[in-house]
Amino acid sequence: MSELALLGGTPVIAEPPARYRSMGEREMKAVSEVMESDCLSGFYGSPGKEYWGGPKIQEFEAAWRKRYGVAYAISVNSATSGLFAAMGAIGLSPGDEVIVPPWTMSATAMAPLVYGGIPVFADIEDETFGLDPAAVRAAVTDRTRAILAVNLFGHPARLEELRAIADEHDIFLVEDNAQAPLGEEDGRLSGTIGHIGVFSLNYHKHIHTGEGGVCVTDDEWLGKRLAMIRNHGENATDWLEMDDLSNMVGFNYRMSELSAAIGLVQLSDVDAHVKPRERFASLLSDGVRNLKGLRPPTVREGCRHNYYCWCATYDAGALGVERELFRDALIAEGVPSFTGYVEPLYKLPAFQKRMALGREGFPFTLGAPDYTKVTCPVTERMFANQALLIEVCAFETSDELAELMAEAVRKVHGHADVLNRYASEKTGTA
Ligand SMILES: Cc1ncc(COP(=O)(O)O)c(C=O)c1O
Repeated sequence: MSELALLGGTPVIAEPPARYRSMGEREMKAVSEVMESDCLSGFYGSPGKEYWGGPKIQEFEAAWRKRYGVAYAISVNSATSGLFAAMGAIGLSPGDEVIVPPWTMSATAMAPLVYGGIPVFADIEDETFGLDPAAVRAAVTDRTRAILAVNLFGHPARLEELRAIADEHDIFLVEDNAQAPLGEEDGRLSGTIGHIGVFSLNYHKHIHTGEGGVCVTDDEWLGKRLAMIRNHGENATDWLEMDDLSNMVGFNYRMSELSAAIGLVQLSDVDAHVKPRERFASLLSDGVRNLKGLRPPTVREGCRHNYYCWCATYDAGALGVERELFRDALIAEGVPSFTGYVEPLYKLPAFQKRMALGREGFPFTLGAPDYTKVTCPVTERMFANQALLIEVCAFETSDELAELMAEAVRKVHGHADVLNRYASEKTGTA
């Protein structure tokens, strides 16, 4: 086995993998056609057929409804907008609590705040990193209005169990499905098991429109309210006979015709964009199985994992090498890896320092927990010690690359004693 690249040896992967490029001729043509039509947006924020957007938006939403088998698909200009709209649509009111995981992109936890709601953090389970149903049960109170679950890294949370909890308490389950366009639990697509599912079409996702998103639901009332919040709903309440005026202050979350045209092509190719990532990640997992101290991602029985990220669970104690050193050695071998994902979101200054001005700002005045005292042990351990990730969506995948990455991981793993000595010499503890 050759010397580690970190110590001057030859890297297993000489060239960094090329960035994944999902835009092709068909997207170019679709964009040109919209440009030629000169209709870059067909939306008006007032009653009339333009309230629902232009021809490409209509076509895109119809295609999305068909693909996901849902009654309503409401395009938006980002998943963040979609999450905000979802919180508004369910009628979230000041002081209502929304149970959220702390290990996700920040928009998930910030969404309730837009309507004066209070994010209540519940821990994740340590197999596939979705909300832990037991932690959710323990967090439900009389003020809980919704559970906002995340299908993290492309693997569905325990959605059916979470939906059962939501139904039992007569509250909503909203899915942040930004990272799992074709995730599945027991044959059902993630995003369609909750009352509302929110998809992202930002540049980093499996399929994208630069920026963009889609909300899906089977519920007519929610579908109408989502569409109203997207487009200045205050102008359409009488026209659309919306009797519940809570949160009927609309925004401009509208997607452009250009994005919709790109989205149509991307959606028609979604399998071709997702499957190679799944294949790559499975090959990589198979190539590093049974290595002491490194557990490749788990796929729960009956589930489909789309591998936005490949997240292994690392045990520095078992291997005797600090996670960050293992990562550095992997990077030197040409594996674009990183550690921790994101710090638990309750650590954000928005939560920790909300008393910075000596007064508590809205909506925390409505009885939020003291976030400085919140701890979610699984999340903390994944962030600080255990998560070792590869952003599979970011680069071009191939079987050959999967084998090389697995070889690099095995090589670094096989040099644990060398790495250990190197670390001791560096810190002068040899
Ligand atoms: C889990 C999750 N939720 C929400 C978002 C926000 O998506 P967007 O950038 O489309 O607003 C992201 C984006 O990375 C995400 O990963």
